[in-house]
Amino acid sequence: MTDPVVEETVSGHARLERNVTLLGAVALVTVAIGGVVEIAPLFWIDNTIEEVDGMRPYTPLEQAGRDIYVREGCYTCHSQMIRPFRDEVERYGHYSLAAESMYDHPFQWGSKRTGPDLARVGGRYSDEWHVQHLQNPQSVVPQSIMPQYGFLSETSLHVPDAEEMLRTLQIVGVPYSEEDLANAEQDLVAQADPDVPAGDLEERYPGAQVRDFDGDPDRLTEMDALVAYLQMLGTLVDVNSAAAQEELATETGR
Ligand code: HEC
Repeated sequence: MTDPVVEETVSGHARLERNVTLLGAVALVTVAIGGVVEIAPLFWIDNTIEEVDGMRPYTPLEQAGRDIYVREGCYTCHSQMIRPFRDEVERYGHYSLAAESMYDHPFQWGSKRTGPDLARVGGRYSDEWHVQHLQNPQSVVPQSIMPQYGFLSETSLHVPDAEEMLRTLQIVGVPYSEEDLANAEQDLVAQADPDVPAGDLEERYPGAQVRDFDGDPDRLTEMDALVAYLQMLGTLVDVNSAAAQEELATETGR
């Protein structure tokens, strides 16, 4: 015996499926509801990125190094986004937090890993290792297919206007202070030259590493900037405490 209720629904559904206009209209309404549910909250919350301690805008030298990283297309072989999977976390460290790339313009998450992920490469090797590796990757990793970037050691760092570089980033939302802007030129040089007074650089940029990076203290080269950038990657946020906080939040929420 057929259940009259089932029969009723089946015929209702059959009518819907056979009427293209009706199906289209109902599908549109359904998708629209889904869209509103997903998008509408974004207009009411202040911040879509969780706040984490330690994240700060990049120093002028790190930013200049980052620009070289982009210019040389390092992102065509390297990602900067550790996904929350066990194999990645065991290899590279704590998975990347959204806040860790909040000052990245443009972001460098990448989608290609010919080489390893670099999101937490900072502090993993010495400056000397980086310099030698960039000059001649095959001298450190014989089977490496990474190109050689020795010219970076020979090329003086040329940033036409450090203040403007920061100001441009400020326009798109990076919170550089007026002091950061005023000191941009000095900060750029001082971070890599022990003979130039660094002033309050380390207070304005907590965790900034101040030293000669390329092994040639007499010159400020593109190598200085790139190594300064690489040595900073992934070191700003104390991920363990951030992770601990997250865990705590889930626990108390339960
Ligand atoms: C053609 C692809 C390719 C390009 C372009 C490339 N790399 Fe690599 N990179 C690799 C490969 C492959 C490795 C792994 C072998 C090795 O260490 O050399 C690597 C390794 C590295 C490592 C060591 C990472 C680790 O955890 O051991 C760093 C740092 C690095 N690259 C930085 C850079 C930078 C900076 C640039 C741009 C100036 C760059 N790479 C451009 C392919 C590339």
